[in-house]
Amino acid sequence: MQFPKQVEIIEVGPRDGLQNEKVFVPTESKKRLIEKLALAGFDRIETASFVHPKVVPQMADAAEIAAFCRELGMKFIALTPNVKALQRAIDAGVPQIAVFVGASETFNEKNINRSIEQSLAECADVFQLAKKHQLFIRGYVSMCFSCPYEGDVTYEQVKRVVSHFVTYGVDEISIGDTNGQANPQLVYERFSQLKKDFPNTQFVGHFHDTNGFAYANIIAAMQAGIEKFDSSIAGLGGCPFSPGATGNVSTEKVVQLLEEMKIAMNIKQDALKEAALFAKSIIEN
Ligand code: HMG
Ligand code: MG
Repeated sequence: MQFPKQVEIIEVGPRDGLQNEKVFVPTESKKRLIEKLALAGFDRIETASFVHPKVVPQMADAAEIAAFCRELGMKFIALTPNVKALQRAIDAGVPQIAVFVGASETFNEKNINRSIEQSLAECADVFQLAKKHQLFIRGYVSMCFSCPYEGDVTYEQVKRVVSHFVTYGVDEISIGDTNGQANPQLVYERFSQLKKDFPNTQFVGHFHDTNGFAYANIIAAMQAGIEKFDSSIAGLGGCPFSPGATGNVSTEKVVQLLEEMKIAMNIKQDALKEAALFAKSIIEN
C-alpha cells in the first residue's frame, strides 16, 4: 500500500460539528474552542456559516465569530450557499468560502430549498462575486455515496456537481459521505474515478462515522491519492437535514491514526486533546 508523506486535516468542528447542536452554544465558548484548535496547529478551520439564521440558529453569530477569527489572524472557512450569504461573509472579512450542493435532488431541496439545477445556477453568481474579492473557494458535494431519501447515489450524480464547480474555477472540492454510508471499496473507486476525470482538481475526503467505517474510508481514499481530509473535534456534528447520520469523523482519532502511520500533519496532540475535552464540555449531552 502507498501512503502520502503528509496530509492536511481541515478542522470543521466549529461549523459542521456545532451546527447540529440543538441548544445554542454561547459565542464565547465557540471562540474559546476556535482558539484552542488554532493553538493545536490547524492551518485552516471551518468556523462559521452565513446560512439563514432561522434555518440554522446555531450559526446566527457567524459575523461575530468571523471578526474573532480575523483578530486571531487565522485562515478560516465560512459557508455561503447564496449571494446574500456571500455578501454577509464579505462584510465580515471572510478569506475562504464554501458553497454546498447535494449530489441527490431530494437532499438538496430539503437542505437549501432549491433543485440542483437552481443551486448550480446560484453558485455561478457566488463564484463570480467571490473571485472578484479574491476569496479561496471550496465546493462541497454532499451525499456523494448514498442519500437518506433516495438510496444509492451514482458516480454520474457526483460528477455533475463536480463538473460545474470545476468549470466555475473552484479551489478545492470536498466530497461528502454526509450520511456515513460509504464503504472503503466504493470510496476507492469513486475517488480514483474523480482523480482520473479531474486530474487538476484538489479533492478532500469528508466522512461521517455512522457505521464505524470512516477510518477505513480514509485509508481507502489515501490509496486513491487523496491527501486532504475534513474532520471534527470530538466527532461532533451531523447535518440537520441528514436524518440518522451520526457525527463527522473525529479529529483526535484521525490524527492518532495518521501519527502512528508516520504521516505528517503538524498537529500538536496535547493541545488537540485539550480542545477535544473542551468541545465535549460546551455541548449538552
Ligand atoms: P430560502 O428561504 O429559499 O431563501 O432559503 P430565499 O432566497 O427564498 O429568501 C427568503 C428570505 O431569506 C429572504 O428574506 C432573504 O433575504 C433571506 P425576506 O425578503 O423574506 O425578508 N435570506 C437570507 N437571510 C440571511 N442569510 C442568508 C439568506 N438567504 C436568503 N444567507 C437558504 C435558502 C439557502 C438561505 C436556506 O435554505 C438555508 O439557510 N439553508 C441552510 C441549510 C444548512 O445550513 N444546512 C447544513 C449545511 S450543509 C451540510 O451540513 C453538509 C456539509 O457539511 C457536507 C457534509 O457534511 O457532508 C456541507
Ligand atoms: Mg459533515
